[in-house]
Amino acid sequence: MKDRVLSGMRPTGRLHLGNYLGALKNWVSLQDDYQCFYFVADWHALTTEYADTSQIEEWSVEIVLDWLAAGLDPERSVLFLQSQLLEHAELSLIFSMLTPVSWLERNPTYKDLKQELKHKDLATHGFLGYPVLQAADILIYKPRFVPVGVDQLPHLELTREIARRFNNFYGEIFPEPQPKMTPTPKVPGVDGRKMSKSYDNAIYLADSMEVVWEKIRPMVTDTNRKRKTDPGDPALCPVFALHEAFTPESEHVGIVENCKGAKWGCIECKRLLMQHLEEEMEPIYQRRVEWEAKRVEVVEIMREGTGRARDIARVTMDEVREAVKFWRL
Ligand code: TRP
Ligand code: SF4
Repeated sequence: MKDRVLSGMRPTGRLHLGNYLGALKNWVSLQDDYQCFYFVADWHALTTEYADTSQIEEWSVEIVLDWLAAGLDPERSVLFLQSQLLEHAELSLIFSMLTPVSWLERNPTYKDLKQELKHKDLATHGFLGYPVLQAADILIYKPRFVPVGVDQLPHLELTREIARRFNNFYGEIFPEPQPKMTPTPKVPGVDGRKMSKSYDNAIYLADSMEVVWEKIRPMVTDTNRKRKTDPGDPALCPVFALHEAFTPESEHVGIVENCKGAKWGCIECKRLLMQHLEEEMEPIYQRRVEWEAKRVEVVEIMREGTGRARDIARVTMDEVREAVKFWRL
């Protein structure tokens, strides 16, 4: 029996290269060695999008299209939708009874995000309780590993603390899951800042190769390199950072030489990058187009995955109700 891994993503827009390298690519490769459970955390999207939910459904579909295009395989992975699994909400409610508010207020992700999203009123019960719901998402499937980036480590630690506290009160129901760190490469956007939907600098998995080139061609380089005859510094250049992510390592030395020695222009450097980007992204793009034309099948995949997840969630909830000693009718 393979170990189980579980992870989720909030549907807050199409996935870009940063999301791909920082999570999705790793999810795809885990399928070879693990029993994988991946879900759309649409309730978690509500924590920040509650005032305007008009796009959550569309974004949920988009994210699943991105998953399938990138190679998540419904034959090998259980793909499901959080909001269809009321068991998560029930477990979250029970966890909320035993989670000290101080644990939540201390959570650095909570403080950071609240700071970042100043324009939204996030002084809500649901936003504070975000990690409690996340703990329920995870523990209900008793996974061995949770693949996450560094930003999610505090949430995973809280999950483990909640598991321990529950087990202390009610008996050993929940094994403590381990984080499976996804190295988070620095993926700059086309303006040199961190790639992010909100900076409008992202390259999306859904972008055609023409669109990708339209974004790469005018991309910011080493800003000190004004002319082709000026030597450049790859360490200061976001194009080079993308080379580091997508171009085989053996070619890096040559790029550095060409740049530092002013032996080529930035546009040639970008063309080479484009070539390697295409190798990785073109097949994903093509598969995405194919899946887009098969929406009915995508819904079916999610329905079936949600059913498989529910079978497990139900067993755990029976154990939980038994352990907490509720009256059963
Ligand atoms: N908080 C995660 C994120 O923002 C999403 C998430 C929700 C999650 N529930 C989860 C991730 C359970 C892993 C496991 O990326
Ligand atoms: Fe950047 Fe390449 Fe231009 Fe050097 S040659 S500044 S690495 S784009």
